[in-house]
Amino acid sequence: MSSFPDFRPRRLRRTPGLRRAFAETSLAASDLIAPLFVKEGLSDAAPIGAMPGHHQHTLESLVKETRELTERGVAGVILFGIPERKDAQGSEAWNDDGIIQRAVRAVKDEVGDEAVVIADLCLCEYTDHGHCGFLDGDQVDNDPTIEAYGRIAASQAAAGADMVAPSGMMDGQVKSIRRALDAGGFDHVPILAYAAKYASSFYGPFREAAEGAPRFGDRRSYQQDPPNVDEALREAALDVAEGADALMVKPALPYLDVLRAVKDRFRYPTAAYNVSGEYSMLMAATERGWIDERAATLETLGSIRRAGADLILTYHARKAAEWLN
Ligand code: PBG
Repeated sequence: MSSFPDFRPRRLRRTPGLRRAFAETSLAASDLIAPLFVKEGLSDAAPIGAMPGHHQHTLESLVKETRELTERGVAGVILFGIPERKDAQGSEAWNDDGIIQRAVRAVKDEVGDEAVVIADLCLCEYTDHGHCGFLDGDQVDNDPTIEAYGRIAASQAAAGADMVAPSGMMDGQVKSIRRALDAGGFDHVPILAYAAKYASSFYGPFREAAEGAPRFGDRRSYQQDPPNVDEALREAALDVAEGADALMVKPALPYLDVLRAVKDRFRYPTAAYNVSGEYSMLMAATERGWIDERAATLETLGSIRRAGADLILTYHARKAAEWLN
């Protein structure tokens, strides 16, 4: 590399055209997946207090929102269901006529194959105790839980989900789901594995949105410990070995190093979940006039792409798609 004054890095930054031509990463609506919540028994969409612009949807408003998102070119949606009836097992999660199954059918009917419909696969919105699996005392019992995940996956696939995304962080969950899908005639349905999902403080607003907060304790005995990155690589390696088709890191911003490490190690399709707390922080600062929402959002999403994400799950999907188009 030559040095100053022969080399002047500012030359390539002088005009918008030069900057665009030399941008190393891109961001497009087709990189974005919108998370959406659908609640059984609602008569009107209900705003989520901590997430301005977002709602718990009825089936009708969910379909409308999905249509508007796909018209704006987003890659797809990931759906979270909130059932009317919760029990200790979370049995509504594998009811073929449950809220998530009806939502997947309705949304697929609307968007066909033009957008990807992902079903989040977990039990915390379905259990009365709010944990992500069956309980044994105050611990989540791993092996019976992953059996149930298999049943849920088959039921979501039967409803037409393009992809299932297990987020419970149980050991062996990808293997159990892959087997159940294959046995049910769904060997074509891919798994987006929440490979490295941390026990994060940034999920607070989501728990209001999805009504899945644990009634006691926390999720630290199954979600990952924030200081660890080697452990994330072991988790991702297991998911790859068990048949994951794509890997996810969650949250995004506090874990960009993990995202980069997972992308570099596996070179798999990699997603990052820009979670509810990340969205709410940005919106709170925006509402106070402390930050420019558009610039900060595009910078944030661009940085997640730069760290290695092929896909970003983000509550800013709709607005970002509008800004990018
Ligand atoms: C449920 C689940 C959570 C999120 C996605 N799936 C909450 C949790 O683990 O407590 C969080 C998403 C967000 O905060 O946007 N397993």
